[in-house]
Amino acid sequence: MEHLITKTLRLLTAAILVVSLHSCYNDNVEELYPGSSNCDTTNVTFTNDVWPVINANCTVCHGGGFPSANVSLTNYNEIVAASKNGSLLGVIRHDAGWPPMPNGGGMLPDCNIKKIEIWINAGSPEN
Ligand code: HEC
Repeated sequence: MEHLITKTLRLLTAAILVVSLHSCYNDNVEELYPGSSNCDTTNVTFTNDVWPVINANCTVCHGGGFPSANVSLTNYNEIVAASKNGSLLGVIRHDAGWPPMPNGGGMLPDCNIKKIEIWINAGSPEN
């Protein structure tokens, strides 16, 4: 009896392993290799493409009562100001003369940078 339970458990574990490995295999290529595959740059908007990236990577330092470098990036107007004076693109592209951002972190994925660039080139619309 105990032998049978052990056997069943082992089979179940194997099945779970196969299922989880399979879902790994199907992971989004863009997430695993950012910038290496197709980057969908149609219909780039502030709401869907720019704000989520800045909120996830920048507002931890550039928000609150004492934002780093006195640069707050917590809403459209603040982000537009940084886009208009060239600092936003300069820091995320790691251009010479700008402190590379995110500070102490790696560079943002190419696709995110490309989308922010497209949004700025379109005149930083509030969309
Ligand atoms: C871990 C904290 C931290 C994170 C995360 C961070 N920053 Fe910064 N940021 C700083 C600090 C500190 C400075 C001042 C650096 C300096 O002047 O050398 C700075 C400076 C800046 C400046 C001013 C540059 C200038 O010289 O005018 C901009 C713009 C900026 N960051 C944008 C961003 C953006 C966009 C992100 C997200 C992609 C980001 N930061 C993420 C800490 C951070």
